[in-house]
Amino acid sequence: MRVVLLGAPGAGKGTQCKRIVAQYGLVHLSSGDILRQERADGTELGRKAQSYMDSGELVPDELIVEMMTVAISKAPAGGYVLDGFPRTAKQAEQLDKTLADSGQKIDVVLNLEVDDEIVARRITGRRSCPECGAVYHIENLKPKVEGKCDHDGANLVQRPDDSFEVVMNRLKTYHRQTRPVVDYYKKNSTVYDIDADKNIDEIETSIFEKLDVCASVQG
Ligand code: AP5
Repeated sequence: MRVVLLGAPGAGKGTQCKRIVAQYGLVHLSSGDILRQERADGTELGRKAQSYMDSGELVPDELIVEMMTVAISKAPAGGYVLDGFPRTAKQAEQLDKTLADSGQKIDVVLNLEVDDEIVARRITGRRSCPECGAVYHIENLKPKVEGKCDHDGANLVQRPDDSFEVVMNRLKTYHRQTRPVVDYYKKNSTVYDIDADKNIDEIETSIFEKLDVCASVQG
């Protein structure tokens, strides 16, 4: 099953992807995570991406499409869930073209819908583990010991692009460049709008209902 998970910054894409992966055995391909790893590794791509990410702008399409095409080509046959990609109509077109060249297509698109005010609160309260990538929230999803990861005890950190100013720009960028991707998919794919102004378990239930249908159609 090939799934695209769309939604504004902080809508809960990463949180839900971890649950989708556990339930359906898909691979989680997050463009943001891959870019952060490139930066941590000090690669040329990581250096090129840095200023865009830190200011809340999108990394140029050609860099992202190449990076994600490689990641997708390495994914096992069981399928994947794309998180943060595609993020422009051009990226979506390129992805469709690449998949069509090998007789494939995106099976289902899930679009997490939630107001800007709520996502801003979610992002500015997010803390994550630099060791294992676990994600917490200072109010909604607290670790057992404040500031420490439940899994490995590492000190939790705030992403540099999660400051209020950068979050505001990421939201503007989302509405200008990424929201049109939803309309792109609505023209030619199965798209489910998911109300993401709910708690994490309720959103998971809505998502699993849709993915169960998709999985049963695929046999
Ligand atoms: P990326 O890492 O993709 O960031 P994003 O899309 O802005 O998404 P986030 O990771 O911030 O949020 P999320 O939806 O995953 O929310 P989460 O589950 O963590 O991209 C970063 C940058 O990389 C971009 O700005 C851009 O520069 C670049 N980039 C990446 N992809 C690109 C592309 N394709 N093209 C060009 N540039 C690209 O949840 C957030 C918080 O809320 C957490 O604390 C969580 O615990 C909490 N939470 C989650 N769900 C709920 C809930 N239901 N109720 C309460 N709290 C919740």
